This record gives sequence, structure tokens and C-alpha cells, in this order.
Amino acid sequence: MDKLLIRGGCRLEGEVLISGSKNAALPLMAASLLTGDALRLGNVPDLRDIQTMVHLLRGLGVVMEQPTPGTWRMSAEGPITAVAPYEIVKQMRASILVLGPLLARFGEARVSLPGGCAIGSRPVDQHIKGLEAMGAEVVVEGGYVHARMAGRLQGARVLFDMATVGGTENIMMAATLADGETLIENAAREPEIVDLAVLLRSMGAEIDGAGSDTIRIRGVEQLHGALHQVVPDRIETGSYLIAAAMTQGDVTCRATRPDLLEAVLLKLEEAGCQVDRGTDWIRLQMDERPKAVSFRTQPYPAFPTDMQAQFMALDAVAEGTGTITETIFENRFMHVQELNRLGARIAVDGHTAIVRGTGHLDGAPVIATDLRASMSLVLAGLVARGQTLIDRIYHIDRGYERIEAKLQRLGADVRRVAK
Ligand code: UD1
Repeated sequence: MDKLLIRGGCRLEGEVLISGSKNAALPLMAASLLTGDALRLGNVPDLRDIQTMVHLLRGLGVVMEQPTPGTWRMSAEGPITAVAPYEIVKQMRASILVLGPLLARFGEARVSLPGGCAIGSRPVDQHIKGLEAMGAEVVVEGGYVHARMAGRLQGARVLFDMATVGGTENIMMAATLADGETLIENAAREPEIVDLAVLLRSMGAEIDGAGSDTIRIRGVEQLHGALHQVVPDRIETGSYLIAAAMTQGDVTCRATRPDLLEAVLLKLEEAGCQVDRGTDWIRLQMDERPKAVSFRTQPYPAFPTDMQAQFMALDAVAEGTGTITETIFENRFMHVQELNRLGARIAVDGHTAIVRGTGHLDGAPVIATDLRASMSLVLAGLVARGQTLIDRIYHIDRGYERIEAKLQRLGADVRRVAK
């Protein structure tokens, strides 16, 4: 199994090209099930989660072709098997995103329940509730969600109990082919939802309000093919900016969108960083030890849970004490123990972590526990004295494209070792 070996202490400097967003690409790919025409997506990152979605869609019968790196052509014109098996769904929770499209177009879907994952129980009750409101009959049996609908789904009012990103995406996709109008209230507002709405509209869907907490979808009889570029990855962008901040470096992220990560940029400025931005780039310069920052994770546009672990790494070496409260997932502090193994001083009390900054971390062997947690270990390794060996980096490969190549280009001493 691959590991990452990092020798800390290098100042990061230069430019990094940001990849397309994984979390945007996954629902965009699932949307291919909504039409028999071809869908072409560009700026798709080459990641393990994308491969898992390719595998899942191929298994369902979608013809998946990759004309050039980063481009996918997908066509669901042939016979489709509406079953998403446990073996794939267990690898990636976002597999649940095929549920809405399959049901809307074929009147039936069987999708394995994702089950728990390292960061919390993460149920799909809201997805089910939304589809039931649209007239579907949904039963959970044998570990599978089995949804059926005789005829078209019916437009309905769907009021979510909490702002769920995947739930909003699933219902929005299902509603595009429903009979009548669907109103999603307390919808999630993440940029990935806006990107999905842009694609669906170019496929012929009628959607208003994506990006706000109320989305209105008027169902149409059928959708057609489209061409779409995936939005840049705001979480990857934020992660490289933190790397620059922690190493007191000077890094410019290219091919990104500063407007998608305002809450993160404000926190970086609060930490003492100089942040400059244009339409598609962000430059971060830092020439002193960062100041600790405090925050609560919240749905977009507030501070994202997917940046919590990386900011904890920053606080670990900052001046002062930061208080970090996780409100989205109940168990998203697994990186704390590993960061503490590197010399961080982090105490957890319920959903809150108190991080007392220290002047230096010391390299050690550590274990990556989930995707964003593993990035926090990379960041800590970049500033730790000596050598940090990160095990189970398949977690990183789920969401960070060519991480060691991008970091090396910025001057980091990092390499992948097969042991
Ligand atoms: C997506 C992102 C993930 C990010 C998360 C929150 C993708 C592929 N993943 O995950 O990186 O961390 O948003 O920004 O886009 N919930 C329920 N019932 C449901 C659905 C959700 O209780 O039916 C809860 C979850 O357990 C969680 C909260 O709602 O506590 C938010 O989850 P949700 O927004 O649905 O996350 P995902 O879409 O799975």
C-alpha cells in the first residue's frame, strides 16, 4: 500500500493548477442517467472517487468513454440495470446520487444503503423522504433502498429537515423529469449544486433558485445531451492556500474561483495572510507565523466542514489558541490523535476542539483516516521537523489529484513510496 513520505521545512512557492471539483463532478456524472443522449464533461479530475463513479455507471449500462484525459463522454441510451450494488456503494457514499435519476427515468431503482462511514452515521432519510413526497414507493430491505413509481414522478413540495447537499442534488435531478413543479425548501446552497443546475438547464431542465435555499423545478418530458465544464475544486484550492500559509510561502492557485471560498479566504486573512485574487486565481503570501483562528463549520456559504481538518493543522502551529466546532458531522475529529502524535496540542470536548498552537511539530509515522483528515496530516508534515510517513493515503487519492506532483512543483520534499 502506498505511503507519502514528507520531509518538513520547505517553504512553498510558485503556482499550482487547481483541478475540477470532485464533489461537483460526481452528481454531474450521475445526471447522465437522465437522458439517452450523450453528455460530455470536461475538467473532470482523475481521482479514485471518479473511477468509482465510472465503475458504478458502467455497471448500470452507461457507455463511458474518455476521449482525452479530463474529459468524459457518457451515454445512457442502451439498456440500463437500475441496481447499484453494495460492493460499489460501500466504497463511496456519493453512489446514492444515482437513485433520483434512475427512478425518474426508469421508474425503479435499487441502491444499496451507504451505511456508516468514518466521519459519522450519515443517513439518507432525507433523500427517501423527498422521493416519497414525489409519489414514489420506497422500501428499505436487505440493505437496499428500493424505490418504485408507476408512471412519472409527481412534482411536490420537499422541505428538508437539514440542508443536505446530496439530498438536494438527488431531488433536483429527479424533479427535472417529474410531472409538474417541485419546490425544494431548506435546500443546500453549495456551489456544486449550482454547477449541477447549470448542467441540467443546458440539458433542457427548467430550474430556478439553485444557490438559494428554495429551488423550483418544472418537470419536462425529456432531457437532451449537453457539454459542460466542471467547476474548480474549492476545497483543493483552500488546502493549497493553507499549505502556503503554514510554510510561510507564496503560492498562486490558478484555474480556480475565489468567489466560491469567501469564508475560507476571510479566515486566512484573519490568520494574518496576504490574500490577493482575480477572477480565476488566488495568491497567498505569508511571512510570519499564522495567528490561530476559531470557527464553526456550517452549510455554505459559511465555513465548510471539508476545510475543518486542514485549518486545525494550521491552528496547531499558529500563535495563540483556536476553537473549532464541527456542526455537520458527529465524528469528524479523527485527525486530532494523529496531529497530536506530531506534537500538536489539541483537546476535544464533544464537538469542539481546542487547539493550542505550538512553535514546532515533529515528524512521525501517522495514519490517514479519511479524505480531508489525511490532508491535515500532509499539511502538518510539510512543517514538521524531520520525516513524516503517512500511511493509508488511498484516502488522499480519493480527492486530491496528483498531490505529490503538485506539492513538489511548489518546492515541497514529498514522495510516494510503495511499501
Ligand atoms: C457532501 C459532500 C461532502 C461534504 C458534505 C457537507 C459530496 C460528494 N460530498 O456530502 O464532501 O462534507 O456534503 O458539506 O458532495 N443527513 C441526514 N439525512 C440525509 C442526508 C444528510 O441526516 O438524508 C445529514 C448528514 O448525516 C450530515 C448532514 O446531513 O450530518 C449533511 O450531509 P450532506 O450535506 O447530505 O452530505 P453529503 O451530501 O453526503
